[in-house]
Amino acid sequence: MNLADTIRAIPDYPRPGIIFRDITTLLGDARAFRRAVDELVQPFAGLKIAKIAGIEARGFILGGAVAHQLSAGFIPVRKKGKLPHETVSVTYQLEYGTDEIEVHKDAVKRGERVLLVDDLIATGGTAEGAVSLLSSLGAEVVAACFIVDLPDLGGADKVRRLGVPVRTLVSFS
Ligand code: PRP
Ligand code: ADE
Repeated sequence: MNLADTIRAIPDYPRPGIIFRDITTLLGDARAFRRAVDELVQPFAGLKIAKIAGIEARGFILGGAVAHQLSAGFIPVRKKGKLPHETVSVTYQLEYGTDEIEVHKDAVKRGERVLLVDDLIATGGTAEGAVSLLSSLGAEVVAACFIVDLPDLGGADKVRRLGVPVRTLVSFS
């Protein structure tokens, strides 16, 4: 089974000209979901990852499964206004607009080893914002992993330039 074939392409969503890579079809396929999580986790077993940071919303689905596999804790990186305690936040550019994400100030301890997880990297704005939030709290962001890379948008390279290794499973150009 080829993981790329389990991801549905929706032309002109949410805006004309965007090809939306819809992972709900991968998630609904038991073998594909297991394979994707196993492949995301594989290089990180034994690397003493303390916490997974998952980005709302699709990064929560994968991040929870990855955290379970690595026996790590989970940090929700949420869209603005959803977290009840004290937060730090950052505004960032998306492929189709701007958004703001935040984490609880006490979500991570200084020096804690964190793995960032999301379904897809496009421009890298979201991941870059998440890395900066986690780093500002003293986390060591060990790596970032995604099922889908859109390499033409340059996001994975942008995150690598921050000194954070990036793992992706499937590319769409
Ligand atoms: C998507 C995706 C990533 C982000 C990637 O989320 O799940 O989080 O965009 O884009 P970037 O690399 O250009 O920053 P979206 O903001 O659509 O939110 P959702 O998961 O709540 O639908
Ligand atoms: N997030 C940003 N760009 C995306 C795309 N093309 N498909 C799915 N999610 C996205």
